[in-house]
Amino acid sequence: MSRSASSEDDMLRVAIVTGSTRPGRHNEAVARWVLRLAQARTDAEFELVDIADYNLPLLDERIPPSLGRYQHEHTKTWAETIGSFDAYVFVTPEYNHSTSGALKNAIDYLYREWNNKAAGFVSYGSAGGARAVEHLRLIMAELMVATVRAQVMLSLSTDFENFTTFTPDSRHEREVHRMLDQLIAWGAALKGVRTAPAPTARHDLKGATRDT
Ligand SMILES: Cc1cc2nc3c(=O)[nH]c(=O)nc-3n(C[C@H](O)[C@H](O)[C@H](O)COP(=O)(O)O)c2cc1C
Repeated sequence: MSRSASSEDDMLRVAIVTGSTRPGRHNEAVARWVLRLAQARTDAEFELVDIADYNLPLLDERIPPSLGRYQHEHTKTWAETIGSFDAYVFVTPEYNHSTSGALKNAIDYLYREWNNKAAGFVSYGSAGGARAVEHLRLIMAELMVATVRAQVMLSLSTDFENFTTFTPDSRHEREVHRMLDQLIAWGAALKGVRTAPAPTARHDLKGATRDT
């Protein structure tokens, strides 16, 4: 998307990232509900990023992502998308008490594109997907992503009619906005970390300096 006005360039960009590629997934309905609620706000820009659109195979890059030397076109395209956002809302199902393999694989592909950014979570499962989010918080820590406390947990039994059709309780709308309030505040703060000049040297405990 091309953006020309400087006020738009200052706008925080938030990706709503899907977490399932399964045929018949519930994920898309949940992600589109989050997007619709988010787009009523004026304090950030929101876009849906559907991992299914990127056709990522199981990680097939030879060089570790932390070195940023991507070889494959699918990785470069994914990196460009993720790198263009300041913050992320991960919409995750719970698979075997964790997030989905598809989302973990998509996250694993990249490194610097995630660093010093913020993330929030919307999850669903029999226990609201809480265990999936706990795992995602650990993964995010390794990628230097700050995860906000407020999260949205949807129940497969009460927020999906017949465990199928997404019919969220209205209280979850307030929860989405509470999570976005925190996400936008942290996302804006971390922009400053990313634009700060890179340190050329650091001090050890005895006061000597060494190159980093
Ligand atoms: C492989 C697999 C493992 C699952 N494990 C859990 C689980 O541990 N806890 C849970 O609450 N639901 C579990 N479920 C149910 C999913 O949360 C439910 O099917 C959900 O709709 C999956 O999200 P999706 O439809 O967007 O793919 C599991 C489903 C699958 C396919």
